[in-house]
Amino acid sequence: MTIAYNRRTHRCGQLRLSNVGESVILAGWVQKYRDHGGMVFIDLRDYTGVTQIRFNPETDPKAHTIARSLRTEDVIAVAGEVAPRGENVNPKLPTGEIEVLGHQCDLLSKADTTPFEVADHIEANEDLRLKYRYVDLRRPVMQKVFRTRHRIGKAIRDYFDENGFVEIETPFLTKSTPEGARDYLVPSRVKRGTFYALPQSPQIFKQLFMIAGFDRYAQIVRCFRDEDLRADRQPEFTQLDMEMSFVQMEDVMTVVEGCVQRIFKAALDIDVPVPFPRISEGEAMERFGIDRPDTRFGLELQDVTDIARRCDFRVFSEALAAGGVVKCIVARGGELTRKITDGLTEEIKGIGGAGLPVTKVIQGAGGPEFSTGIAKFIQPVFAELCAKVGTQVGDTIFFMPGRFAHVCKYLHYVRTRLAQIMELIPPNRWNLLWVVDFPLFVWDEEANRWFSTHHPFTAPKDEDLQYLESDPGRVRSKAYDLVLNGTEMAGGSIRIHRRDVQARVFRVLGISDEEAHLRFEFLMDALRFGAPPHGGIAFGFDRWTMLLTGQESLRDVVAFPKTQRAVCPLTGAPAPVGQDQLDELQLLIKANADG
Ligand code: AMO
Repeated sequence: MTIAYNRRTHRCGQLRLSNVGESVILAGWVQKYRDHGGMVFIDLRDYTGVTQIRFNPETDPKAHTIARSLRTEDVIAVAGEVAPRGENVNPKLPTGEIEVLGHQCDLLSKADTTPFEVADHIEANEDLRLKYRYVDLRRPVMQKVFRTRHRIGKAIRDYFDENGFVEIETPFLTKSTPEGARDYLVPSRVKRGTFYALPQSPQIFKQLFMIAGFDRYAQIVRCFRDEDLRADRQPEFTQLDMEMSFVQMEDVMTVVEGCVQRIFKAALDIDVPVPFPRISEGEAMERFGIDRPDTRFGLELQDVTDIARRCDFRVFSEALAAGGVVKCIVARGGELTRKITDGLTEEIKGIGGAGLPVTKVIQGAGGPEFSTGIAKFIQPVFAELCAKVGTQVGDTIFFMPGRFAHVCKYLHYVRTRLAQIMELIPPNRWNLLWVVDFPLFVWDEEANRWFSTHHPFTAPKDEDLQYLESDPGRVRSKAYDLVLNGTEMAGGSIRIHRRDVQARVFRVLGISDEEAHLRFEFLMDALRFGAPPHGGIAFGFDRWTMLLTGQESLRDVVAFPKTQRAVCPLTGAPAPVGQDQLDELQLLIKANADG
């Protein structure tokens, strides 16, 4: 008789001393195999943990023979009896006080040698892990991540359900939703020469839900964006998307704070205090050089433009003459060697900067003075500069002259790297921060036109509406981003619910009335038929999982992710298709540059 593996009595991580004497059925994967010249020991694993099974050739010769043939990752079922381990207790294992005396063993599936070990810490490169993702996902650390991901999702769904939100699905085969990335396109077979766009977000649809009177909507939904990938970006990713009617910014932010509390509780059993601190986008840029600041450490940017004007230093004066600024970061008392500062300079050059003027404050013969780097150029302003930025002997000062946006970009980089090098980031700190008062538009030099900072449906502040045409750069928006430890975790806004205002915003964006009609006719139409004031937000669900499970890449929290080149090593997607499919779609491939 074979073992009724469909009647498992326990999972592999469950048995304890209190179960001694019980007859049990377990099933799982062979984690480890040891033949002690007689006794065979198998560590049997499933998602809950491992149990040691002992096979005795004298009492259970048949089971022992099968056990001797087993190798790692074979799938087996075992029937046996729980016994204490006596002196051989393994304190590292929750099941370490017991073992199962295997009376029967069925081999359910034989495994080839896996490409890498099923263990928490492995050396395998990522492509290999992704090609054999099902083996990779067997690793306990990955099992934990995906179960936490599930718990976060459940906490979110429960929370929104309790607060009167309805989950409604939105289409994937749709029209472009502008969120600042390229669209993934799907050709239509029926209407040849036309394409669906996969949604970059359900933005317009959720606004239509508000116009439809649903009042509160929340959906956990996949979004698709063809953009340059980074550790915290995937081409397809999951949002918790929500929208509410008859609300102001405060209302949405309060609901979000409640949701974040639930997420932390579910994932880490931590109570986070509300409300979260707020900072304006302008202040964030001034102090941190980025609109998603990591506030877990100092190293804030300081403006020394005025003092720089009085220095006889060509690099400063050229930047200032071109309308730029000079800012700096003071690394306090850090033992920053020449090797480190030179290394940072090279890194800055690597990301497009011209250099990184640096100096140190040392104890000279006649008192503190600048030493090394650009010391001789700035020594004349020593007293003023030190008073302004508050330096002490031992400090290193990193300067960045140039256009404000560039200074921000490079000093943000320096700040982040210094925090890593100087190990300034405290563990287990969760700094949540709202960033508000964004400009509605950003000017793009290259394209020579305004772009939306968020998306074109974001409402301007009422008091700034008057500058929409005359001074678009002055208009602030009713948008809010939620930042956790320097990562943008959610972004949303109050929307434009008046057709005339939406048309004006489109015009500032260079979208003509005809183009607006072509691209957004359905939204413009809907705004004619009774649109309530509304607003919402979307959370990067994968990013929440990544940070709360301590992973460094979204790829570790997405079951079947894409690589940096947007490829899936498991399935080989994207892949060429047959000529018949191309013919059906009337598509002609011009050239296959990638081979
Ligand atoms: P936004 O574009 O800011 O807003 O996206 C919301 C959140 O989604 C996450 N996110 C991503 N996560 C992984 N990979 C990506 N490629 C990626 N892109 C974005 C971020 C981000 O904060 N419709 C608006 C929301 C709204 O206004 O309500 C939107 O999509 O965590």
